[in-house]
Amino acid sequence: MKSTAYQELIIPQESAGCFLCENAPCTKACPYGLAVDSVIRSARFENTKGAAAKLPQELSCLTCETQECLSSCLKGKIGNPVDIPNLLEAISMNEAPVLTDIDLSIDFCGVSCENPFFLSSSVVGSNYEMVAKAFDMGWSGVAFKTIGAFVPDEVSPRFDAMHKESVPFVGFKNIEQISDSSLHDNLGYLKKLKQNYPAKIIVASIMGRNLGEWEMLARAVTEAGADIIECNFSCPHMAEDGLGSDVGQNPELVAEYTAAVRKGTSLPILAKMTPNIGNMEIPAMAAVKAGADGIAAINTIKSIMNVNLSSFSSGPDVNGVTSVGGYSGKAVKPIALRFIQNLKACEPIANVPVSGMGGIETWRDAAEFIAMGCENIQITTSVMQYGYRIIDDLIEGMKIYLAESGFSSVGELVGKALPQIVSTEKLERDSICYPRFNRTACVGCGRCVLSCYDGGHQALTQNDNDGKPVMNASKCVGCHLCAVVCPVKAILPGTRVKKKRNEAAS
Ligand SMILES: Cc1cc2nc3c(=O)[nH]c(=O)nc-3n(C[C@H](O)[C@H](O)[C@H](O)COP(=O)(O)O)c2cc1C
Repeated sequence: MKSTAYQELIIPQESAGCFLCENAPCTKACPYGLAVDSVIRSARFENTKGAAAKLPQELSCLTCETQECLSSCLKGKIGNPVDIPNLLEAISMNEAPVLTDIDLSIDFCGVSCENPFFLSSSVVGSNYEMVAKAFDMGWSGVAFKTIGAFVPDEVSPRFDAMHKESVPFVGFKNIEQISDSSLHDNLGYLKKLKQNYPAKIIVASIMGRNLGEWEMLARAVTEAGADIIECNFSCPHMAEDGLGSDVGQNPELVAEYTAAVRKGTSLPILAKMTPNIGNMEIPAMAAVKAGADGIAAINTIKSIMNVNLSSFSSGPDVNGVTSVGGYSGKAVKPIALRFIQNLKACEPIANVPVSGMGGIETWRDAAEFIAMGCENIQITTSVMQYGYRIIDDLIEGMKIYLAESGFSSVGELVGKALPQIVSTEKLERDSICYPRFNRTACVGCGRCVLSCYDGGHQALTQNDNDGKPVMNASKCVGCHLCAVVCPVKAILPGTRVKKKRNEAAS
């Protein structure tokens, strides 16, 4: 029997290394007809139990005589294929979940949504066919690509991704503006979507250049059949001044434009906020006071990345130059959660519904946003990278989590994490939680010792015989850097002990 550490390592490592091919050759090659790609994808998107449920009990890939999945794996063309037999074996070590059919429906701003998962306003929802495909696959709503009364001139290229330590898309930068379709065409898409998908939720994202345009756009998208209007006060790279995040940073403008939208519609209004500001609560309160029913957060973060050290241009490189653009994807998730917590901690708007986004890839990310107080979830970057198909594991993973945690609806999870965020002065400072070393799991690599010395308090030394750490408790401050860097998760929180205070020093 392989160890849990092995299982915990091989599943993320091998599934992250998989190309996640469309029309995957491994699935076509499997002599037992197993949807290998779907199992690996579920594991990649943190739905390991869902992955395990897809494996037939009697099948062991390790004893498969053909192992054609390996010879067909496209990763093999440039090196070693994904270790599919061992990966599937590790997945099968997980207990398959009891799949109760939990209802994921949730009410958001008075609108009933079949599940909390929406495409966020961007290229991923910019015409009828795209959104129809996403709806057919299970997305419950779309914040349609921002519609304006003008068509922006776009640059090429307009995207770049940050890669680090073999992780693609640590973060993603774009310098795309609002929709490049005409207002007429966009209204046509909204109308047709609502006609053909009446139960799905259409959020019309709009951006005006003056009060009259905001009101006109609100009226037009309402007539076209939108369910909710989202005001784009937050695009950080509009070519024209006074638009996007220039508005979101200015509470007076936010209030004026929200009021203009309110004049043009009776639909629920969301104000989509910029993270390029210290205190999002201030413009958010201005929006709510002026008639917004909810907040959407976050839009992208102003960024510069990937400086080419030969040409000194950075990405995306438009004829040798670039501009500050919007950063999104998994790197921004902690920043998004922090802004959302700030909104929820702000008493005058604490009960205002929030649609959360920024770096959501998996059901687990989504559950964290919901626990931080969001009733609704929006996603772009992960869809750009992996396609609409991520909805399968968002839905299944969320259902399994809710069922196994004793929740009977998504609504019960909303805000569960909020009481656990307190201001720094309220944190307990009288005790130390020492690390606990699992010596069986430890492989003696010495990484904890190295980090404790160079980045901590020199409390660990390496045993000469087996390389495993030895702790000097009198030096340990319980910072847990050792646990964070351990590659095999062999260091866990241990006993919490009252601090010995040096009375003379205090
Ligand atoms: C290519 C691209 C285009 C975007 N276009 C818009 C837009 O038109 N309107 C808008 O409100 N937000 C736009 N966004 C921001 C996203 O809706 C979202 O707020 C942000 O990317 C964070 O979510 P994510 O990490 O899931 O991508 C865009 C993002 C990207 C990556």
